Parts: sequence; C-alpha cells; structure tokens
Amino acid sequence: MITRMGDFVAAIDQGTTSTRFMVFDHAGKEIGKHQVEHEQILPRSGWVEHDPVEIIERTREVIGATLDKLHLAASDLEAVGIANQRETAVVWNKRTGRPYTNAIVWQDTRTDRIAAALDRDGHGDVIRQKAGIPPATYFSAGKVQWILDNVDGVRAAAEKGDALFGTVDSWILWSLTGGPDGGVHATDVTNASRTMLMDLVTLDWDDELLGFFGIPRTMLPRIRSSSEPDLFGTTRADGPAGAELPLAGILGDQQAAMVGQVCLQRGEAKNTYGTGNFLLMNTGTDLVRSENGLLSTVCYRFGDDDPVYALEGSIAVTGSAVQWLRDQLKIIDDAADSETLAASVEDSGGVYFVPAFSGLFAPYWRSDARGAIVGLSRFNTGAHIARATLEAICYQSKDVADAMEKDSGVHLDVLKVDGGITANELCMQIQADVLGVQVSRPQVPETTALGAAYAAGLATGFWKDTDELRANWHEDKRWTPRIDDQARAGGHANWRKAVERTLGWVD
Ligand code: G3P
Repeated sequence: MITRMGDFVAAIDQGTTSTRFMVFDHAGKEIGKHQVEHEQILPRSGWVEHDPVEIIERTREVIGATLDKLHLAASDLEAVGIANQRETAVVWNKRTGRPYTNAIVWQDTRTDRIAAALDRDGHGDVIRQKAGIPPATYFSAGKVQWILDNVDGVRAAAEKGDALFGTVDSWILWSLTGGPDGGVHATDVTNASRTMLMDLVTLDWDDELLGFFGIPRTMLPRIRSSSEPDLFGTTRADGPAGAELPLAGILGDQQAAMVGQVCLQRGEAKNTYGTGNFLLMNTGTDLVRSENGLLSTVCYRFGDDDPVYALEGSIAVTGSAVQWLRDQLKIIDDAADSETLAASVEDSGGVYFVPAFSGLFAPYWRSDARGAIVGLSRFNTGAHIARATLEAICYQSKDVADAMEKDSGVHLDVLKVDGGITANELCMQIQADVLGVQVSRPQVPETTALGAAYAAGLATGFWKDTDELRANWHEDKRWTPRIDDQARAGGHANWRKAVERTLGWVD
C-alpha cells in the first residue's frame, strides 16, 4: 500500500544483458520493478558491444514503466541509486551528447595486444601496485585507448576537452542529469577502481597510469564516494519520472551486491551468479594485495568515511554458459530448463566443460585460453553437458574461493549467494558439495539493486545506519555439503586437468 511521499527508495540496475528499475521499502522489501533487455552486439569473434543510446533509452523506459505499474509519482521516491555493469567503456561528445562509437563491454577481448604489451613494457607491476589489478582486457583503460586510437577524430576531440569517458554509471548519471545541458560528469570510487587508472590509496586518477594508455585527464569523470549526502545531482524534471529525482548513490554492481548482502564486516563474502560470477570478500579498511590471482578493489565508500576494500575473484562466463546451451547448442529452451535436464542424470558422466569463451579470468588471468569440453564418450548426452555446465559454474567459484582463503587467511564457513542462477537448486547443491561449505540464499534475491538503493538511502537518511540494513537481511534457504572430502578432491582434480587443456589455445 502506497501511503505517503518519500516512502520508498529505488535503484537503476544497468547490467550486461538487461536494465531494471526497482523500488524498495524501508524493510528492504521489493515493491515492484520493470526490466528490459538490450542488444548484445557481437561484430567479430571476441568483440562485445552495447549501444549507449539504447542503454539510456532502456533506462528511461524502465523508470517510467515501473512508476506507472506501481502508480507511484517521483515524489514517492526519496532517492535513487545506480548499480551498473562495471568496466564497460563509453566515450561521448560533451556538446552533442552522442557517443563516438558503441560501448566496449567488459567481456570484449579486442584489447589483448594492448594488455599483453603492458607487461612486456614493464608497466604491469606498476599497475598491479597502484590499481590493484593485473593488466587484462577486462578493465576500462585499454578499451578507452582502443577508441582513442581507432575511432576517427576522438583523440583530437579528447585533447580539445570535447570527448568524455565514463563507465556506464557515469554515462547514465551525465545523461539523466541533463547531458550536454549541465549533466554531472562523475563516478564513484568502486567504478573508478575498475578502470586501471585510479590509485587505490589516493582514490584519484593517477598520471603515470593515464600515461601508459595515452588518456588525457580532461576525459575523466570526477571521482566521488559511493553514497553522497550532497547528491550526485537530480534527474531532469522533463525526464522519465516527470519530476526531479535525487541520485544519491552509485556502486559497481558487484560492490552493490556486497552492500545488499550486508557484507559490511571484514571477512564477510558473497558470490553473485550473473552472466559471470563475482566472489568478493570485505577486507575492511585494509587494502589486501592478492598473491593468488585475485583483484584488490574498492568495496564501497560511504560519505567521508574511510574507504572499505575487497578482494574479488571475477569469473567471466557462468550464466552466459547456460545461455550458450540455450542459444547456440539449443539443448534447452529456457535457462531454467538447465536444472531439469542436468537433474535427469546422476552426474556429468565424466564430462568437464571449461567455458573459457573470453579467456580465463580469476585466478588464472589467461587471455590465451579458450573453451573446451573434455572427457566425452559416445555414452554422453546433452544432459551430461548441461550438468557439466552447472558444475563448471561451481568449480570456477571453488578456484576463486581457494585463492580467497589463501590471500585473506579467512576460512569461509558460509557463502552468501545471489543472482539469477541461485534459483537453480541443483546448482546451489553442487556449489555446496564442490566447496565443502554451506551456501545461503537471502529472501531478497535482488541484492544488486538493493545495495544501490541502500547507498542512496543511507545518503539521505532514509536508513539511519548500517545496523538498519543488517536487520533487513533474512535467509531464505541454506544448502549443506552432501559429498565426502575424497569425492570433492577427485572432482576438483579432474576439473583442474580440464582447465590445463584450455591454456595457450590462442596466441
Ligand atoms: O565486472 C563485470 C560485472 O560488473 C558484470 O556484472 O551482472 O552485469 O553481468 P553483470
């Protein structure tokens, strides 16, 4: 029941495959949402693009449709947060508001030569030290360099101060706050920490890093905290909500899920199952540097508080492997059918599937890897491949969880999970079995949007402190391991053998 003004906080969740707008009440309960997909533009092998104009149109559409559906006015919303696919790079003209080219998506591998050259030229360790991440195609900087080097007129425009760069949060913020007519060009620390351009200690763009990629500072958004009491700005009154909406929180989507899962204490961790998987552990105000293939990243920064850091294991392909079964192999009609098909066999029949479609991310960081299905015999069916796909999601998370334990010294007793695949009960049971730890799913599965809403609502005082957020978290279901250590070790050893087969497949 909608009773009075400002009863709700909302979030834009702009993800890799879709955009949604969600409204939450004070208890963190979802009031309603609207979601639409956008086109995945795949011009060549390894290239993945989005049309930034489509992204902003979809954003406006979901805001308007959600408010209509719920019969809410903009004034019913106290604040709005933004959660977004990270690393994806947009470069646009600040006078016309037009992007120079499509956004280069985080999964895109066209910058593999740029990434490889960084280590060859001796820049890799500086990047690891300052930005906390290894040179890889995944992060934004190489994508911006590629646009500067390959799209006509962009470098000249950048040097004149006409070309702006932003991750998707920045593009949405700038567009919704007025675009060429006074749009706010800013980002938050979590998104900035994914560019390879920000120093994790100073929380500012770093000239040496900018120099490696030839990126002029004038292109870059101002870096702010994730939850800003003085607001990132307001949407235009002539925008999709028909009135000004205060934008008060921004978080990269995986960091947003950390906040939505209230992983706000050192040692708390969550695994989000989206197109890829992202396992993050809060390391408090200590910047822990990984020795095992993980990333150091900013987890969040609320107002002027000290930044809180995280270790992250990013896996490029998990849910998108299930989509591949549906769209390319056509052995299922719907992603949810993967559960029924996989459950029709007792095990994967000796099949292991390593979906290294974009190379391997954490903890391997091998852009020369490509996918492989191994262990096949004539006995195997599509059901074994479906089961091997679910197992691959879980084994990749196991590799990351092992690295996390080594880096942090913290043994996970329970792993909080969220994201689409957590509805797949078989996959969650396999995850508990493979990890040997309990797996816990919250009642509100939309933790990404919730986290961005929390960031916005904390800024405006809708939630007075993080204790209120913690009180909103409730478990829905928990899975307990059902296999013994020997079976777990045997399966994992086979998985590692399969991973070895994928390495060095391309130059
Ligand atoms: O780092 C990439 C990540 O932010 C993408 O998440 O949920 O949009 O696939 P998602």
